[in-house]
Amino acid sequence: PKLDPFTTLLELKSGALDPERGTPQVRTQEDLRGFFQVAPEDPDRVVYQVLPMPVPKENSEIQCSTTIIEPGTVGDEYYMTKGHFHAVRDRSEIYLGLSGEGRLILATEDGRYRVEPIREGTINYVPGGWAHRSVNVGDDPLVFFAAYVGDAGQDYATIERDGFPVLIGPGDDGPAVRENPTYPS
Ligand code: 6PG
Ligand code: NI
Repeated sequence: PKLDPFTTLLELKSGALDPERGTPQVRTQEDLRGFFQVAPEDPDRVVYQVLPMPVPKENSEIQCSTTIIEPGTVGDEYYMTKGHFHAVRDRSEIYLGLSGEGRLILATEDGRYRVEPIREGTINYVPGGWAHRSVNVGDDPLVFFAAYVGDAGQDYATIERDGFPVLIGPGDDGPAVRENPTYPS
């Protein structure tokens, strides 16, 4: 065998991992420049963090991490992740919702899309070939655990260029999904 077994405690509400096994990846509004429709309003403010549980990036392994997205908005959009296709396109992923209220936007390269719920207890299956972005539509942090094929990698450039077919922001009657006017037709 290549690895020794290990056990980590996942604090279900906050998403904290004990012991921490890698450096948290912190994304500020500035880091998301070009992903929201408008420029950052408060550039240093943290939008989300990813707490990794690193294993070798090989297809025989399962990468996993927790993501914590703060509540907030930039322009008309709720705080969200950059979103990505997996660099190896057919690699799939599972999300387990831990707390908060969110939406998972999924899209194919030919422009099909789905919007799925994320909250405590949801399991979202993200098949290969579907780009995925999570959005915090609530007033509390959105927390979920993700596990995916080890060599998947992330392609952010395609999303930075095209975005997703839909945007999610506050509406008159709760979260509103609207068409992305800059998505290529
Ligand atoms: C992954 C997962 C997930 C994701 C984070 C942050 O492939 O690693 O989809 O852990 O990376 O939720 O989202 P971004 O990678 O899009 O910034
Ligand atoms: Ni992913």
